[in-house]
Amino acid sequence: MKAVPLVLTGFGHVGRAFFSLLREKREDLERRYGLALEVLAVGRAEGCFYAGGPLDARQISQAGEPWTSGNPAWHAGLKVTDAIDRHGGRGGCLVECTLSDLETGEPGLSYVSAALRAGWHAVVASKGALVVGLPDLRALATGNGVALKYSGATAAALPTLDVGLFSLAGARVEGIQGILNGTTNYILTRMGEGLDYAEALKEAQDKGIAEPDPAHDVEGWDTACKILLITNACLGTDYALKDVHVAGITGLAADLVRSARREGRSVKLLATAAPGRTKGRWTLDVRPSLIDPSHPLAQVNGTEKGITFLTDSMGSVTVTGGRSNPRGAAAAMLKDIINIFRPAF
Ligand SMILES: NC(=O)c1ccc[n+]([C@@H]2O[C@H](COP(=O)([O-])OP(=O)(O)OC[C@H]3O[C@@H](n4cnc5c(N)ncnc54)[C@H](OP(=O)(O)O)[C@@H]3O)[C@@H](O)[C@H]2O)c1
Repeated sequence: MKAVPLVLTGFGHVGRAFFSLLREKREDLERRYGLALEVLAVGRAEGCFYAGGPLDARQISQAGEPWTSGNPAWHAGLKVTDAIDRHGGRGGCLVECTLSDLETGEPGLSYVSAALRAGWHAVVASKGALVVGLPDLRALATGNGVALKYSGATAAALPTLDVGLFSLAGARVEGIQGILNGTTNYILTRMGEGLDYAEALKEAQDKGIAEPDPAHDVEGWDTACKILLITNACLGTDYALKDVHVAGITGLAADLVRSARREGRSVKLLATAAPGRTKGRWTLDVRPSLIDPSHPLAQVNGTEKGITFLTDSMGSVTVTGGRSNPRGAAAAMLKDIINIFRPAF
């Protein structure tokens, strides 16, 4: 059995879902992959749960909620990176799920950089750290001989990077199209069924699909981050978020969505990476787009997502589905960890 030390930054929706998933899957992970994943520290904004050994659920939560007061495992002001230093040794894995700040990349950028420098692998859900700092983080990972994986930030339970980097190895990717955000796809699906934008958004919020502040999703930035990260990974490019043309769905007329549906077509928030007019440059674009029923992503409805890769030798390859919620994101991060540590097969 291989014991793998983990530290977790962020104990919100995704962090908690990840911790629960580890408990749920513990036996399965040991039996199928020979891995004992042990969480040594859990970082929140004001401090860190750390007890010098593997944490169990009772040390970090009470009645399902994280608790701090009077808890001997809680250390106000301690950072997860301090816990990595205290642990010593290389070869553990940081599981990064703090907030995404698309301008500074913080706090995730500092956590991931420190972990990679310490010789720890990193599995990252926060898009901010990656959008701001990916080239430097990649160099740090390579320089320290460790892995940097981010399925959790690139449409999570929908396999995107795994397909682009592994399944399509040897093929030249000539274009990418994706429906990469479950919230906007749900809103557009419901608008096609007769709701106006405000009604569809409210319904999505009531169901916990949309955030109370949905700007990041409905203005297209979440989708923009994903197509940027997927494109850069699969094409080996270094585009920045400012290179993505972004239009969200906030100004979309319900009539347009309904009339598209009457004609058998649909409106989707489509992310596209395509060769640009200048040779060697790609155009990255996020915008509401009218698609025909024959389009490979036409049947991707509700909170589902999908991606199509156009290739020279394997034709068009489409993957759809994948759970769009914190549990799906946590499962994608767990997949990355398994793929870093499991024995070769
Ligand atoms: N929600 C999803 O379905 C989903 C899917 C894919 C990717 N993601 C990405 O995953 C990340 C986490 O999402 P979420 O929904 O779990 O967010 P969330 O519920 O808001 O949780 C964010 C967590 O970050 C912690 N945090 C904030 N500042 C920190 C700091 N300086 N040091 C350590 N921890 C800090 C917060 O600590 P406190 O608890 O102390 O406030 C909180 O626990 C985001 O970047 C998001 O874009 C989310």
